[in-house]
Amino acid sequence: MSLIKNLNWRYATKKMNGAVVPQEKLDYILDAAHLAPSSSGLQPYKIFVISDREVLAKIRAIAFDQSQITDCSHLLVFAAWDKYTYDRMGEVFKRTVQERGLPDDAMNAYLDRVWSTYEPLGQEWHAAHAAKQSYIALGLAIAAAAEQKVDATPMEGFLHEQLDEILGLAGQGLKSVTLLPLGYRDEANDWLVNLKKVRTPVEEFITEVK
Ligand SMILES: Cc1cc2nc3c(=O)[nH]c(=O)nc-3n(C[C@H](O)[C@H](O)[C@H](O)COP(=O)(O)O)c2cc1C
Repeated sequence: MSLIKNLNWRYATKKMNGAVVPQEKLDYILDAAHLAPSSSGLQPYKIFVISDREVLAKIRAIAFDQSQITDCSHLLVFAAWDKYTYDRMGEVFKRTVQERGLPDDAMNAYLDRVWSTYEPLGQEWHAAHAAKQSYIALGLAIAAAAEQKVDATPMEGFLHEQLDEILGLAGQGLKSVTLLPLGYRDEANDWLVNLKKVRTPVEEFITEVK
């Protein structure tokens, strides 16, 4: 039950107090994101861990002035592949077979099959599909942060193209998807801290088909 207890403890913190998250807690949160499952195991996203205060100030300016971005300890930026390519996917499968000690061509037929499905879907679909994968890692990072009693605020409220420019993401074949400031709540100044957590009633949310 401790996961549920921790998920009840967490909330989308609106005001952080600037305290630093210890490295081992940060590593734990990043490990959880790293272990996220993804379609075909491609992990078509990366995480940038930003603590440079100047870069954070630039990001806040293109994120509707959300204070968590400069009051956090570290800002995670989830950035997903801007497209799939045969070679990009092939590189991931190559590492998989090598690490598993399988023959070099063990995943070739699978690669051909996946690529024949993905290629006609076009780059916009690729980018959206890759971004969806990154949300699973985001969710696990949020849960891991709660376990570590580290506050975290998932964010989509920023100008994506401008963040891509700040971090030079296009040159790396990436597009920003979400932000996750990590830090500690400023209890005295956060309007949300004591408000009830509200969710769709369970009976509406869950449909049992028996
Ligand atoms: C994908 C995503 C994007 C969000 N974007 C923002 C954001 O830009 N700024 C913010 O303060 N909260 C943001 N939130 C937080 C949600 O508003 C919040 O999670 C939701 O209201 C549920 O409340 P809780 O997280 O406190 O339980 C976002 C949440 C998610 C999952």
